[in-house]
Amino acid sequence: MNPSNQKFFSPYTFNNGVELKNRIIMAPMTNYSSNPDGTVSEEELAYYARRSKDVSMVITACTYVTPNGKGFHNEFAGDRDEMIPSLSQLAKTIQNQGAKAILQIFHGGRMCPPELVPHGDIVSASAVPAEVAGAKTPRALTETEVEEIVDAFGETARRAIEAGYDGVEIHGANGYLIQQFFSPHSNQREDRFGGSVEKRMTFPLAIVDKIKSIVKEHADDSFIVGYRFSPEEAETPGITMADTIKLVDTLAEKDLDYLHVSLQHFLSKARRGVEDVNKTRIDYLLETIDNRVPLIGVGSIYSAEDARKAFETGVPLLALGRELIIDPDWVQKVAEGREDEIVTEINKDKQEELVVPVPLWNVIMNTPGWFPGV
Ligand SMILES: Cc1cc2nc3c(=O)[nH]c(=O)nc-3n(C[C@H](O)[C@H](O)[C@H](O)COP(=O)(O)O)c2cc1C
Repeated sequence: MNPSNQKFFSPYTFNNGVELKNRIIMAPMTNYSSNPDGTVSEEELAYYARRSKDVSMVITACTYVTPNGKGFHNEFAGDRDEMIPSLSQLAKTIQNQGAKAILQIFHGGRMCPPELVPHGDIVSASAVPAEVAGAKTPRALTETEVEEIVDAFGETARRAIEAGYDGVEIHGANGYLIQQFFSPHSNQREDRFGGSVEKRMTFPLAIVDKIKSIVKEHADDSFIVGYRFSPEEAETPGITMADTIKLVDTLAEKDLDYLHVSLQHFLSKARRGVEDVNKTRIDYLLETIDNRVPLIGVGSIYSAEDARKAFETGVPLLALGRELIIDPDWVQKVAEGREDEIVTEINKDKQEELVVPVPLWNVIMNTPGWFPGV
């Protein structure tokens, strides 16, 4: 192995004492390939098995916590106890290959396609549509409904515990319901869930507290709880880097096991809200967190060189998403000193060989510019 890649393979111990065998994690990726009844399909299990041998931890595709939170066609369900055996199969598939299994849990809010939710009743913090063509105006949740969704996050975390996962990741990123509550674009509430940046944190923090209390009741300290966030929004008003610094500063005191930023480019710079144009978003986040909790970085880490540069920033853990779809042997190749053999563009002829479920493959092939090579 190239000695400068040794960092990738040093173990990492979370504050709760759980050890990861190395620093490379599989990023959560929706794959549109579950069974119509909400169970995980054989194709998905094969896809995860193919990618779980060399990374230390796999964060699954997001699963919804209530029926009105289903954000994608053919995503697997986490909203009811009947799903526990299927969720458990996925956890075991990942763990049998040697990785920790983390279930990502979410609610799609105003981003849910109406045909996927009961009566087409799309909900969000406020009745504000997303700024995308054809977006439907959601209905603002009542306070009671908000509390029910907080409880539902707790229930799905309990299911993850019962299904044998090593942890859960709260999906507060990518424009879904948790982010919709933190955002001044989608949250125009005047009750305790909206208003100042502190009040917009109420819903995300209530979910963290609920899940921590469920873990206390049903698991032990070894159960991992992570939180994913997107640092900024393009809309005006929208989440700024300054807002996110406040959120992250608060989350760092919440006894979470990790924070996970969602970025397309690891070294990207902030749009607004901070002064120093030379600093990357990661620099600001690491400075704010100040080693209180580990940060997982992500975003276009195609080569080992990209990963080396990313680790140089001081981030302790890296997640790879598209890269592991394109080349499931990314980590093994680095470990064996074959980093020059890493594939960085998707090979359009290799769907079967890459063990990518057909629905996911079709979405990738029909979305120009999303994956290198398409
Ligand atoms: C096919 C696909 C599905 C994704 N689904 C999710 C998801 O369910 N949850 C999530 O937090 N991020 C999701 N993402 C974002 C990735 O986790 C990751 O942040 C992004 O792809 C950038 O990292 P990369 O350059 O390593 O791919 C998805 C990305 C892709 C490519």
